[in-house]
Parts: sequence; C-alpha cells; structure tokens
Amino acid sequence: MGKLAGKIAIVTGGGSGIGREICKQFAEEECAAVAIFDINLEGAQETLQIIGSGTTKVFAYKVDVADTANVQQAVAQFVEDAGGSPDILVNNVGWDQAFWFLDTQPEFWDKLIAINYKGVLNMCWVVLKLMVAAGRGGRVINVASDAGRLGAAHEAVYSGCKGAVITFTKALAREHSRHNILCNVVSPGATRTAGYDNVKYSRDDPEQFDAKNERQIPLRRIGEPGEVARMITFLATDDASYVQGQIISVSGGLTMVG
Ligand SMILES: NC(=O)c1ccc[n+]([C@@H]2O[C@H](COP(=O)([O-])OP(=O)(O)OC[C@H]3O[C@@H](n4cnc5c(N)ncnc54)[C@H](O)[C@@H]3O)[C@@H](O)[C@H]2O)c1
Repeated sequence: MGKLAGKIAIVTGGGSGIGREICKQFAEEECAAVAIFDINLEGAQETLQIIGSGTTKVFAYKVDVADTANVQQAVAQFVEDAGGSPDILVNNVGWDQAFWFLDTQPEFWDKLIAINYKGVLNMCWVVLKLMVAAGRGGRVINVASDAGRLGAAHEAVYSGCKGAVITFTKALAREHSRHNILCNVVSPGATRTAGYDNVKYSRDDPEQFDAKNERQIPLRRIGEPGEVARMITFLATDDASYVQGQIISVSGGLTMVG
C-alpha cells in the first residue's frame, strides 16, 4: 500500500516543474485525491494527463492563489469533488525575475508579494480551518527557496518573501501542534524547471548563469525537480510524524545550517 493511501491533498503550482513532480509522487504513493491549483489550467491538465487514471483521483483547477475569493471557491469545489477535506497542503507556487533592487518598481514588489507570500497566507487560512475542524491532523508543506535563507542578489524582494514564508511556517507550526498539524518548509536551490529559466533569461548574463550556480553548489550541479519533490513527499507521509517547524534545504549543499 502506498504511503499516502486514503489522503486528500492540494498542490499549488502543480502544472509545472517541482509541483508536477510532487503530484506524480503523491499518485505513486496512492493518495486518494490530489487537487492541482494552478493559474495555468493547461499545465495543470497536462499533469493530470501524465498521471493518468489509477488509484488517485486527480482534479485540475484554474486558481490564482493570490486571490482570496478564488482560493475559497476552489477549495470548496475540491472538497465537494473529492468527497472530503484536505489532509495535505503543499504551497509550491512561486515566481520571480532577476533585477537589481534599485532598478525595480513598487508594482513589481506588489506582484512578488502577492504570488510568493499572500498566496501562501490565502491557502493556509482557508485550508487550515478545514484541517482543524476535521480533527484528523494534517500536513502543510511550504516551498520556500535558499534565497530566503541566504538572500540572493538580483532577487531581493523574492528573498524577502521566501524569508517571510519560512518564519510564517514556524509560527503556524507552533499554533497548530495542538491539532497534530505539522508545518514544514522545503527550501530548493537551483532546480531545472521553467521557473528557473524564467529567472535565468531575465538576467543580463543567462549564458553564464548555470556555470555560476554550479561553482557555488558543493555538489557542482543543478538539481532536478523530482529530487525536491522527494523531500516534500517524505514530509507528507507518516515517516515524518515527528518533524515539526523545520526548514529543509534540497540544494546540493548550497545552504548548510548548523
Ligand atoms: N526552480 C528553482 O530553481 C527554484 C529555486 C528555489 C525555489 N524554487 C521554488 O520552488 C517552487 C516551484 O518552482 P518551479 O521552479 O517548479 O516553478 P515553475 O515556474 O516551473 O512552476 C510554478 C507553477 O506555479 C504556477 N503559478 C504561478 N503563479 C501562480 C498563481 N498566482 N496562482 C496559481 N499558480 C501560479 C505556474 O503557472 C506554474 O505552473 C516555487 O515556490 C519557487 O519559488 C524554485
């Protein structure tokens, strides 16, 4: 039997990259139902098709996680479609482009904060109420970034948002331990996805970006999205039953915290 048998999960940003791999692994572990919340419905539907029909019922929804009303409506719809409330929430959506902070404008900060931080607040606010009410415990796994631990040049506002996600998750872990809801952070480093390319090609040195990253990473390579998803899947299972309020980097050794 799969390690997630009978569980109901929501994965945001499941239409691409790391999120797609999370959905695939959740299906391999025989989750009962997985909702893909993505602003790109085509991407979400592609993930659904890749997984195909099996033990896991997969549902794709077009959702902007930055929009509170949209999140409330989509979660309610999924609860109806799945026939139960979520046990697992993975906040994986993220977005960035690389600029020097002084070259950015407030409108750009608003967009980054809405997607990378308010989106996490929206999802947690709506889903945690259901988890608490259901009384079955639960898992919240927020995807941050090593930029949020180290601070990344050209990614100052994004680094701040991810740092906020990290501290917010620790606070949630303290507030929800009494409900046996475990809240943890997975912090990827450079990982080969469309999101990585989006950052790479907004820089003025895209052809050197991979090599620069590889020089900084002790394992000397860019990660694969499935390698990050593997840690998220672990945190969703009973194997992680005593892991609470932690930040775990999956970044080839880029961040080593004592
Ligand atoms: N790839 C990397 O190098 C890297 C490094 C550090 C952290 N991360 C983090 O990992 C997570 C996944 O990144 P990825 O590289 O797989 O990204 P990706 O761009 O490949 O996938 C992100 C998905 O989120 C969706 N999305 C974007 N805005 C949305 C919104 N407002 N509402 C709903 N869906 C939205 C996109 O449509 C896309 O399908 C993000 O939180 C990112 O910040 C990635």
